Amino acid sequence: MNAPATVKPNAKRHRKLATPPGMIPEVRRPNFELPADMPRYWWDNDPAKTLLLAALSSGFPPGERFFIDSVRYYQDRITDPELQQAIRGFIGQEAHHSREHKALNGFLEDRGINLGRLEREIQVFMDWMRNNLSPERQLAHTVAVEHFTALMAEEFLLKYDALDEMDPHMAPIWAWHAIEESEHKAVAFDVYKTVGGSEFVRATEMLFVSVVFPVFTTVHLVQLMKADGQLGNFRSWGKALNYMWGKPGVFRKLLPSYLKFYSPRFHPWNNDARDLVEKAKRKWLKGGA
Ligand SMILES: [Fe+2]
Ligand SMILES: [Fe+2]
Repeated sequence: MNAPATVKPNAKRHRKLATPPGMIPEVRRPNFELPADMPRYWWDNDPAKTLLLAALSSGFPPGERFFIDSVRYYQDRITDPELQQAIRGFIGQEAHHSREHKALNGFLEDRGINLGRLEREIQVFMDWMRNNLSPERQLAHTVAVEHFTALMAEEFLLKYDALDEMDPHMAPIWAWHAIEESEHKAVAFDVYKTVGGSEFVRATEMLFVSVVFPVFTTVHLVQLMKADGQLGNFRSWGKALNYMWGKPGVFRKLLPSYLKFYSPRFHPWNNDARDLVEKAKRKWLKGGA
């Protein structure tokens, strides 16, 4: 009897990707200046697009504290020195994001955009999660949101013209944050895998995040538009909706990458965006650091 023909697996298709060796998130300490004469609607002179980013910014300080704590909980179980180093980079980067967005939120508050209320609402939600979810699920929450932020950073801020449409003093903050979100996108995931986090918890937490994140963001955007007297500005709503879901449809184009999260073979570095990040570093970070 002839031996069965050996079927060579498609190495590329079946390869489980991992974080590239030496990929340690770099902690930068940038200095941003926000001048008083910045236009009120600093992204494309558009209320809905600008206030959407403002709503996201309100969630960063409480959110990023939660992400740091969920990773820190497992830190002493990590024996790989490179992952330990990456965790320190992740914590440093998120701590600086939190600090800079707090300053940005204060700047916007001074201009009458009430982000304090939004931040308090998100803090209440984060406290609920801390008190009610297991440490494993809290880390899975971070893993899921990090996938969202990496997608938004790479596919939305760095790939399209969003940054070029922003006020030149505002764009570097979002560019810096997007670059670092891409750099540290796999840290929470690698910790989760190393400590044996379950696939069921990871997938179900992503489903939960996929409902909560858009609902919170939409409610907050409506609140901000209403407070700014822009609720009936259908031109702006239409323009923002078209940008996200129509043409270019940046959120619509994120859907395939979003769905990959549910695969057991998923790894954040399956999508290697280092070229995009390097280009953005040269353009937006002082000295290209
Ligand atoms: Fe961040
Ligand atoms: Fe992050």
